[in-house]
Amino acid sequence: MTPATSLFAPVEADLRLLADNLIHLVGNDHPILYAAAEHLFGAGGKRIRPAIVLLISRATMLNQDITQRHRRLAEITEMIHTASLVHDDVVDESSTRRGVPTVHSLFGNRIAILAGDFLFAQSSWYLANLDNLDVVKLLSQVIMDLAAGEIQQGLNRFDTSISIDTYLQKNYYKTATLFANSAKAAGLLSEVSSEIAEDLYLYGNHIGLAFQIVDDILDFTSSADTLGKPVGSDLKSGHLTAPVLYALEEQPKLEVFVEREFAHDGDLEQALALIKDTKGIQRARELASHHAKLAIGHLGSLLPSESRQALLSMADYVLSRLY
Ligand code: IPE
Ligand code: IPE
Ligand code: MG
Ligand code: MG
Repeated sequence: MTPATSLFAPVEADLRLLADNLIHLVGNDHPILYAAAEHLFGAGGKRIRPAIVLLISRATMLNQDITQRHRRLAEITEMIHTASLVHDDVVDESSTRRGVPTVHSLFGNRIAILAGDFLFAQSSWYLANLDNLDVVKLLSQVIMDLAAGEIQQGLNRFDTSISIDTYLQKNYYKTATLFANSAKAAGLLSEVSSEIAEDLYLYGNHIGLAFQIVDDILDFTSSADTLGKPVGSDLKSGHLTAPVLYALEEQPKLEVFVEREFAHDGDLEQALALIKDTKGIQRARELASHHAKLAIGHLGSLLPSESRQALLSMADYVLSRLY
């Protein structure tokens, strides 16, 4: 399922183990919740977050094997991410995810919310069992941030006055926080210095921001087939992402369509056409590329290794999804 097989090569075997373990970790005490969780884990996903955790683990444990705790951290990271997707799909009313129907469309909203909660709760339990208070604090903060990010996104819908800074802050809460804190946590498990831990945090932060900006651009430039949802879904729901915010600076007419929430026939199509006529998408690409470069700048403190090289290439991979 990993699209960047060669990029993930140093941790390919680790990721296979992770895929098996994730299903077992959910357990089958609650058949419906298990079915819901298994459904998504079975469908895979790109596994970029656990890949980064494992690559950092290997890059910081050069002459030793990584520990069970590193592996468990990677699993917890993917579990938290998956839980957030189950909830996000309810909020976004999305019908497919990872090429399969979403949990709520199969089992209903009630089960989907409970299944998401169940996954968050389970990840907290496995987290506590790592017996490392600093790591527990980092990842608990992530779970708070993810909820805050969804709430902020909900409150900002159709608000044409939000700035790029506000948008980036929301992307931190929704996405970058998990990349940043799980990257730092992997370093802590390897007992790196506090300087390296901070670099790992910033690497994750900037990769995460670039990743979300790219995801937001794909909502305009990709095809419904590739996305598994209609193009322009974010705009239609009032999520004003980088391409739109930049386009609004150039094309004030766009504001009219957004402010009336695309209520008239053809509004959404006209708005999409207007955005494509501006430099919005191009400028958003530059913003993503800027953050990918900043990420790379934080790997200087790691010794050269195959895993460090893969972490460097990760920045290109994130941007390459645009082409
Ligand atoms: C989707 O994340 C949500 C975003 C932050 C854009 P991914 O694109 O990593 O989703 P999967 O895990 O590969 O399905
Ligand atoms: C939300 O991001 C995923 C979380 C980080 C909770 P998006 O809403 O952009 O993700 P997609 O586009 O639905 O995959
Ligand atoms: Mg979504
Ligand atoms: Mg998206």
